[in-house]
Amino acid sequence: MAENLAERAAKLRELINDYRYNYHVLNKSIMSEAAADSLKHELTQIEEAHPELITPDSPTQRVAGEPLPQFKKIQHSGRMLSLNDVFSEDEFYAWVKRIAKMAGRDDFEFFMDVKMDGLACALVYQDGVLAQGITRGDGFVGEDVTANIRTIESVPLRLRKAKGYENFLTGRTEIRGEIVMYKKDFEKLNQEREKQALPRFANPRNLAAGTIRQLDPKLVAARPLQFHAYDLLRQDGSETPTNEFIYQAIRELGLVANLVAKIAKRPQDVIKFAKTWEEKRKSLPFNTDGLVVKVNDRQLQARLGVVGKAPRGAVAFKYPAEQATTKVKDIFVSIGRTGSATPVAMLEPVLVAGSTVQMATLHNEGEVQRKDIRIGDTVIVQKAGDVIPEVVEPLVKLRDGSEKKFVMPTHCPDCNTRLVKAKETEAVWRCPNNACPSRSWKQIEHFASKAALDIDGLGEKNVIALIKAGLIKDPADIYKVTKEDLLKLDRFADISANKLVQAIQAKKYPLLERFIYGLGIRHVGTQTAIDLATHFKTLRQVSNSTIDELSEVEGIGEVVAEAIVEWFAEPQNKKLLEKFKKFGVEPEPAKEIKGPLSGKNLVVTGSLDSMSREAAGERIRALGGTFQSSVGKETDYLVVGANVGASKLAKAKKLGTKQIDEEEFLKLVDPALTADK
Ligand code: IVH
Repeated sequence: MAENLAERAAKLRELINDYRYNYHVLNKSIMSEAAADSLKHELTQIEEAHPELITPDSPTQRVAGEPLPQFKKIQHSGRMLSLNDVFSEDEFYAWVKRIAKMAGRDDFEFFMDVKMDGLACALVYQDGVLAQGITRGDGFVGEDVTANIRTIESVPLRLRKAKGYENFLTGRTEIRGEIVMYKKDFEKLNQEREKQALPRFANPRNLAAGTIRQLDPKLVAARPLQFHAYDLLRQDGSETPTNEFIYQAIRELGLVANLVAKIAKRPQDVIKFAKTWEEKRKSLPFNTDGLVVKVNDRQLQARLGVVGKAPRGAVAFKYPAEQATTKVKDIFVSIGRTGSATPVAMLEPVLVAGSTVQMATLHNEGEVQRKDIRIGDTVIVQKAGDVIPEVVEPLVKLRDGSEKKFVMPTHCPDCNTRLVKAKETEAVWRCPNNACPSRSWKQIEHFASKAALDIDGLGEKNVIALIKAGLIKDPADIYKVTKEDLLKLDRFADISANKLVQAIQAKKYPLLERFIYGLGIRHVGTQTAIDLATHFKTLRQVSNSTIDELSEVEGIGEVVAEAIVEWFAEPQNKKLLEKFKKFGVEPEPAKEIKGPLSGKNLVVTGSLDSMSREAAGERIRALGGTFQSSVGKETDYLVVGANVGASKLAKAKKLGTKQIDEEEFLKLVDPALTADK
């Protein structure tokens, strides 16, 4: 046993060291920080239980980090520090208590920002002119990447003259911040790579880090990077009294500082802010993994000093890790709503982002082969937002030879029909049997789900019970279910049976867009369903449309158009629609909404403070307007939010589109405000 553990510990060490070297020295990330932490945790546990296994070179015993050799090395004016992490309210309050004790008071303010997932960089402005851009390096010495930094549009080559901030234009002003790549730019680059059959880039952080260290600045210019500042340093500290002032100065001088950043008067307000942004941060243009909380008063911050590599007066308030490592117990195939046969990994339960994960999707057979995921492997699992957990990669170096390769079955595990691929090039195997039991329950569950028909009480368990009892086979069947039918099942009593039947009957005339979405056509999500309903007005028109007609709809491309035509051509689906009709189900044709925005086309670009883009779209539609995804000749208003690229605005300017800011937009869409006029 102990021998096995020693071996495991040695392998863990090797892998963690690999990770550290790649991360700190080569600026390449072979796995996420969270995954590495998870491995380190396992190693620490082994070492705690068996101290005799600790070696002096164990990653638990030291830290590393050296700059790359090929750029000129530059000494930082003051060390670029890291932050200590806190992971919970308790840890946060403990930090507050510690610094309050040191400060001898507890009436200080905090300044909070989201913690961006990019790489730190220092910009040196000499007499207002950009002189140097330096990477963090090991904190003391970084690399001179000035030529590359100059290609980043959001970095001014000369600081703006601004009233009250003139002093920053003389002498040395150092601005520190994070270089990030926006999620949407990252996605776009990856889509282009896929078209060229090149492997995808792993994540925006790696790509940003890799890009800024390119020796050819032209390549850097072709990959959109952003710089978001969070600090400003002057020789004389009295010029920068608070962090709030610094953020204001940064903006006045012409750089980007996050608008979400703000003051908190009390620790409770920090907690509130953290809760607010836990979900909302996902709509920010860049990736984040927590908050940065600092004492607002810079003098106090300086007085609190530094321990190790981190200042006492600031912490990173981390959100629960969305990655962890665990073992694959088995791999089986699950049949989805559209018949897709997806390999799924059964995992040893592990806590990811606050909930236990036992299963993770492996997407398709090709993905399992490409990543070479085997039964028995230790793997990295990831949960991003609400999506199903997925296996990122196996940790090959932890293999002991007992792992087994996965073989894709040739037949459906549920109905034993032979699995097929529509085209040889397709990645996904499908069960072609429309009546396959696992297909139908997922289809019906989807039809009844919140975003579709929203039928109360018709969740997974009831759907399965109704199928098992032979009461329903497809989504149309639910409308013929009676109270008497339900009462024959154990799970229903008088009231619950009544309730479900009523809930179903209440949805006999659903909104067309919800009905279309509920049909579960491949590639047709809620937005496409809305676009279809608005454009074609009736289900009949949608079902009769050709690929050309569909492609005319804003936001519908060829693949989606093909999937729609295919769906309506399928005899089984034609029968389903007839059945709906027979049971008296009639989707309500999309009505022209008459409202203050009738006939107006709006595009929203950048992020809004007051609502998400989706909410803005809903608002526009509710008032009769059309929410477009990109600016065209017919666009009436371009709503310009925060962090907008110059090219978007240039296009709108060329077309003469009227640009409005968030405040003006709110006046347009807030009936209360319009009523005042
Ligand atoms: S303030 C002492 N604000 O996080 C450093 N840092 O773990 C205080 N980071 O190296 C920096 N977003 O690169 C600050 N809004 C933000 C940040 C931020 C990301 C990075 C920064 C720093 C690391 C510290």
